Amino acid sequence: MADTKNQDAIALLKQDHRTVEELFEQFEQASGDGRKQKIAEQICLELSVHAQIEEEIFYPACEGKVEEDLLQESYVEHDGAKVLIAEIEAGGPDDEYYDAKVKVLSEEIEHHVQEEEKRMEGLFAQAKKAGLDMDALGEQLAARKAELIEQFKLSGIPEPKLTTMNEVSI
Ligand SMILES: [Fe+2]
Ligand SMILES: [Fe+2]
Repeated sequence: MADTKNQDAIALLKQDHRTVEELFEQFEQASGDGRKQKIAEQICLELSVHAQIEEEIFYPACEGKVEEDLLQESYVEHDGAKVLIAEIEAGGPDDEYYDAKVKVLSEEIEHHVQEEEKRMEGLFAQAKKAGLDMDALGEQLAARKAELIEQFKLSGIPEPKLTTMNEVSI
């Protein structure tokens, strides 16, 4: 396992992205409901922690330093993912749409990760260019991440807090 100590913010967040991509890959190849559910739950945990540390620490630090449109889209994309994560958490592999939900989540995340990592104009590139202190942010992200993993493993992933959504009735 890569050394997670003293990673700068971008290295830490990118490593999270790679972890989740690997898990999605494993899900695609897995057979057996138990195995699939285990991987899906790991995906949900990783993504929930990742989204929360970005929203608590990294995105606020980007405020005013990156294109506002891009930052707002990031929050909206997170909320879309949180809804699917809650759906996947609430269900199981015997649900008719379980695999489809995991697949759509992986596609949404793939798009979102591209927006964050895109060279030159991606969120991370813009934040770096703006001179954010990535070492200090990396420390904060790592500390909060460890705390949340502990907490979520103990008491489960909490109900998603949606940052951008209005109440809708369907
Ligand atoms: Fe991210
Ligand atoms: Fe994100």
